[in-house]
Amino acid sequence: MSLTLCNVHFSDKNDRTVYMSGSLYRSLKLSGIDKLQIKLGRETVSAPVKAVQREGNHVYLSASLRQQIRVPKSGNVYMIQSAEDEVQLGPLIGILSDGYVNNSLPFGSRTGFIKELIRTGDKKAYFFAFSPRDINWVEETVYGYFLDENGSWYRKTVPLPDVVYNRLPSRKAETGSYISSLRDRFVRKSIPFFNWSFFNKSDVYNLLDKDVEALRHLPESVSSPTDEQIRELLEKHHFVYFKPTAGSLGDGIFRLTYHPKKGYFARYRSGGKNVLLRFGSFQELMRIMHARVGASFKSYVVQQGIRLVEIDGCPLDFRFHMHKNGKNEWVTAGVGAKKAGKGSVTTHIKNGGSLMTPGNALSRTFGSEAGEVLEKAKRVAVKMSEAIERNYPHRLGELGLDLGIDKDGDIWMFEANAKPGRSIFKHPALKSEGRDSLEYILDHCLYLSRFRGRDS
Ligand SMILES: Nc1ncnc2c1ncn2[C@@H]1O[C@H](COP(=O)(O)OP(=O)(O)O)[C@@H](O)[C@H]1O
Ligand SMILES: [Mg+2]
Repeated sequence: MSLTLCNVHFSDKNDRTVYMSGSLYRSLKLSGIDKLQIKLGRETVSAPVKAVQREGNHVYLSASLRQQIRVPKSGNVYMIQSAEDEVQLGPLIGILSDGYVNNSLPFGSRTGFIKELIRTGDKKAYFFAFSPRDINWVEETVYGYFLDENGSWYRKTVPLPDVVYNRLPSRKAETGSYISSLRDRFVRKSIPFFNWSFFNKSDVYNLLDKDVEALRHLPESVSSPTDEQIRELLEKHHFVYFKPTAGSLGDGIFRLTYHPKKGYFARYRSGGKNVLLRFGSFQELMRIMHARVGASFKSYVVQQGIRLVEIDGCPLDFRFHMHKNGKNEWVTAGVGAKKAGKGSVTTHIKNGGSLMTPGNALSRTFGSEAGEVLEKAKRVAVKMSEAIERNYPHRLGELGLDLGIDKDGDIWMFEANAKPGRSIFKHPALKSEGRDSLEYILDHCLYLSRFRGRDS
């Protein structure tokens, strides 16, 4: 199976022959082939093929040919020869998202990121975006959003894509039966779909519960804890984190502390301020927690607190943005260090945290050993990604890991995000990592769509 970058031209001839530059025609060994099958996504058209005198890799498609397989545009794209008499153009990559605001912001606040990703695939693949409403399952087509040279959107109907990158924006949208059946339909058609869905914290902890390698880096966690289990964990570790399992951005998180002499403390954020309360007894603490959270802690996890390294008395943690690359291996695309705001329970920027490069943050905490600590953390991040993937029944291609480093240099994972935000890449020193991250998405789509490496 050969992979070539070729230039597709739209000809205004009205015959059904496909013309190819002589060098491409020869390298594909097409002499003696009567009819060539040309595929895009799920569509195939069969046409006689002839060579024309021209250097380089060029293909000329007449209006009827390109309409039949719905080629969205002319220009550079990959071609694979999947059989002696069959070539495929593509890959056709669909980014699934939602959140329509208007015609220039069809995917709301995600539109900018989606545009950047589509630009990354320019001249290599047919990259487009779509929402669940744009799929026609009967015709097996998608009414996609494409980007022109000026950065404006235009719409084209294309076949079902070769691979889907899922960036549906909300947990709520994803738990509906419509989206579940949409995912199942792609899977039934053997169209790779990643990432599957948002993660809940307790799902990830439960997933890794039996994975000895991963467990070493997970703080002890109890999902849906009883009061008694919280008491035990507090006595054992002296402080714990209490978090909503489907939470994000630090919302609803409590840090509970036990001092044998001073009593119990709860730290949390309320109305934009950090709050610290003291309780004389465990019962009193639980009474307030139930009053704030509800009778049951069913949708919460309680977790051993980790004594993180600090800068200026503020805890520090890290976002590791992980991707699967063109060889299907996990790699660290970028790392952001986050310093908590004064008195804040979490490191989120919106709660007063600040973003730093890992080099800067680690040299202030580990001095000359900073580089070594970062390399070690990267190895753990790859190991944790592999562990999550091996215990998870669906396809994953990207993860945002929240990792902490304690004062002994041990690495801990607080949570794994299956649809990680990209705020770390806003740091001026992390912009090139942001671009790498987009390249990894493209490379992995090429891999999954068999346009690179896979099964060849
Ligand atoms: N077990 C823990 N020990 C110490 N700090 C923690 C712990 N769990 C969470 N944190 C801090 O709180 C932040 C937010 O927790 P996280 O689990 O990532 O929840 P969220 O979904 O709200 O981002 C972490 O980035 C870390 O700074
Ligand atoms: Mg987090």
